[in-house]
Amino acid sequence: MLIGVPQEIKIGETRVSMTPSLCRRCVSLGAKVLVQKSAGNSAGFTDAEYRAAGADIANSARRVWREADMILKVKEPLPAEYGLMRNEQTIFTYLHLAAGAELAKVLLKKRILGIAYETVEATGGSYPLLQPMSQIAGRLSIQIGAYRLQSQLGGSGVLLGGIPGTMPGHVVVIGAGNSGAHAVQMAAGMGARVTVLDLDMRKLEALDIDYRGRVVTLMSNPANIENEVADADLLIGAVLIPAAKAPIVVSRKMVKKMRPGSVIVDIAIDQGGCIETIRPTSHSEPTYLEHGVVHYAVPNMPALVGRTSTIGLTQATEPFVALLVQKGIERAIAEHKGLAAGVNTRNGKITCEAVAKALGYA
Ligand SMILES: NC(=O)c1ccc[n+]([C@@H]2O[C@H](COP(=O)([O-])OP(=O)(O)OC[C@H]3O[C@@H](n4cnc5c(N)ncnc54)[C@H](O)[C@@H]3O)[C@@H](O)[C@H]2O)c1
Repeated sequence: MLIGVPQEIKIGETRVSMTPSLCRRCVSLGAKVLVQKSAGNSAGFTDAEYRAAGADIANSARRVWREADMILKVKEPLPAEYGLMRNEQTIFTYLHLAAGAELAKVLLKKRILGIAYETVEATGGSYPLLQPMSQIAGRLSIQIGAYRLQSQLGGSGVLLGGIPGTMPGHVVVIGAGNSGAHAVQMAAGMGARVTVLDLDMRKLEALDIDYRGRVVTLMSNPANIENEVADADLLIGAVLIPAAKAPIVVSRKMVKKMRPGSVIVDIAIDQGGCIETIRPTSHSEPTYLEHGVVHYAVPNMPALVGRTSTIGLTQATEPFVALLVQKGIERAIAEHKGLAAGVNTRNGKITCEAVAKALGYA
């Protein structure tokens, strides 16, 4: 099998889908690896390191896409890459198709075997390839929010930790999963007042026990959300319904009631966002102001810390990539239920029920 590793082209993206160490593993298992020139540079990996690990280096993305049996990527293919895909090629990457109707059409037309990182399952039903990036996005959301609250950037001028004799900032996190729990950890560590809401009582219980009451946990319902959002200095959207479009949990009316200069970071933007006033932004223009509230909604936040993110992501993908190499794509999918759950498109059809429903194919 020839694995192709193109350079990521999403604005500000710094991650790469394969480290030299993963490359060495794939080569030792019998695969060939073709890495686009400089693909690892922004994550701190040089072409020389990939060569030493057994890869061939390609001068263009075109060559990588043309020769690869399986394209290993980080972000979903962008319009500039649509023409490079070969019919019936396998692409293993984040796809986020519930929020990507146009890409879905291309994958179907080209009969791409699209395996989405975000729906690959581990035993017990967790999402091991989403987890490390969610942890990073959750942790980053607080440092980004703290920065955007600064007066010179149009924020309300609230210091999250406050100082003795002042009120600390109020951080409200909706969703207590991987990203939400890590946002809570950072916010509590900075000395903010933290409230977290979820529908899953077990998650709230775990946080309540961990923080011994220092973090307020609330059931996620419209009344609680309305009260907390109105008082938030920093609001974090961190909900997920696997593979589906994110539910809108914060309405425009609620955003209008927030104090001027407060900040929203909607981590769930890659699934469409969970705040009514949110729309995707990018690393080159990460925020916009609406109803006096700063909105941040970058769908590839982990690119801000390309080195940590690349290592975290590839450690998680490695067992699945190794399986695909060892068994071959068809057998690996047939024998591994968790990997099969990652298959979103195949033979011109959407094979993931939640995605099909979100896009109106079901
Ligand atoms: N923007 C980025 O760069 C970036 C990076 C990584 C992950 N993400 C995204 O962040 C989102 C969250 O991912 P995660 O790994 O934390 O998911 P997760 O499944 O670990 O957690 C999601 C939580 O949302 C809760 N939830 C669902 N509906 C809810 C509701 N109505 N109210 C309150 N809580 C609700 C669930 O019970 C769960 O605890 C996903 O969309 C993921 O793709 C974005």
